[in-house]
Amino acid sequence: MYCLPDPSIRHVVLVVDDTAANIAVLAEHLCANGLEIIVAQNGEESIERARFAKPDLILLDIMMPGIDGFETCRRLKTFQETRDIPVIFMTALADISDKVTAYEVGGVDYITKPFHVEEVLARVNAHLSLQTMQRMMVTQNRLLQQENAARSAAEEVLACRTEELARSNAELEQLAYVASHDLQEPLRMITSYLQLLEQRYKDRIDADANEFIAFAVDGAKRMQTLIDDLLAYSRLGSRARALQPTSCADIVSDALRYLGTAIEESGAKVVCGNLPTVMGDETQLTQLFQNLIANAIKFSEDGSQVIRIDAEDAGNAWCVSVRDNGIGIAPEYFERIFVMFQRLHSRAKYPGTGIGLALCKRIVDHHHGRIWVESEIGQGSVFKFTLPKVGRR
Ligand SMILES: Nc1ncnc2c1ncn2[C@@H]1O[C@H](COP(=O)(O)OP(=O)(O)O)[C@@H](O)[C@H]1O
Ligand SMILES: [Mg+2]
Repeated sequence: MYCLPDPSIRHVVLVVDDTAANIAVLAEHLCANGLEIIVAQNGEESIERARFAKPDLILLDIMMPGIDGFETCRRLKTFQETRDIPVIFMTALADISDKVTAYEVGGVDYITKPFHVEEVLARVNAHLSLQTMQRMMVTQNRLLQQENAARSAAEEVLACRTEELARSNAELEQLAYVASHDLQEPLRMITSYLQLLEQRYKDRIDADANEFIAFAVDGAKRMQTLIDDLLAYSRLGSRARALQPTSCADIVSDALRYLGTAIEESGAKVVCGNLPTVMGDETQLTQLFQNLIANAIKFSEDGSQVIRIDAEDAGNAWCVSVRDNGIGIAPEYFERIFVMFQRLHSRAKYPGTGIGLALCKRIVDHHHGRIWVESEIGQGSVFKFTLPKVGRR
């Protein structure tokens, strides 16, 4: 069986022999085999033709007048356009040293005269197939290299963008921090003067004016809360501190102390299970519990709130839960509520800035944990988050 070259490609073979009869025999069989033939009758002529026509294969006689086949092959190997064309030598000599020289000068094969047509065709076809495969490999290699280059370029662009994004994020955070920090001072001034107005002129102005002042005071207070929340949020980015063993029980009692008034006014009952010591940032964890407990109080009916704080072993981490018996949350909002400024109710119904849970998420992220909510409308909510165990990062 021949190893047939790709039939969709028309291969060109250059036959070089000084004997016209030999060329005729070869040409007949090669043409019958679907190959295109060009011929040359001496070495120099064959080089010229090869450089011009760039055949896929050269059948090259060794003994020729002028430069012999070996020299012809050597020269063919010096030109860029003919260097890779496979050369099969043909000779009547059965001399072993000829075969060795044939390979030394760059030949790929060797056939002896008189020709056995079957053998010639088999060898020609085998080398043409090889040649085709080599070319395919070269093309594929080039494509791969192009793809690789494109991928590297894309990766570089991505790395640049990521860096830019991180920088612009940091700048934005800094801006938010500076803006909210600097807004505090004029706001404090507005609030104090409004309060002064209220105290001094309360009895001298009419009810409408009193009401207007009250609205303005309320607005200023809300703005103060917003600024405080924004500051707390942007401080998180600029002050990444190392995590240390921190007692959740201590943290929760601090948070409850800060929330004293709200707890008292609402009549909420807070029950605490056994809480572990975790790897954490004390200030941030206090903010985390404070926000979740404040929400549990706020989004429940006054007087009937029962809030449970528990922790369970979750393998690599502790899973802490803050459970309330409040209004609950519909599943479609489970993700959204953790996004900055996302609130599900009007300010008139439940006051707030929509920053609290975004802050909680950021804190838990800093602790390499996860935060989520489990809830049903009217059935209360459980906010759960994981915190690293002592000894872990
Ligand atoms: N315990 C809870 N029960 C019901 N809804 C809640 C609870 N906690 C948060 N939510 C919902 O998620 C929203 C976002 O919460 P948060 O970021 O703390 O903002 P804020 O408390 O300022 O409204 C709240 O406005 C509320 O709609
Ligand atoms: Mg809140």
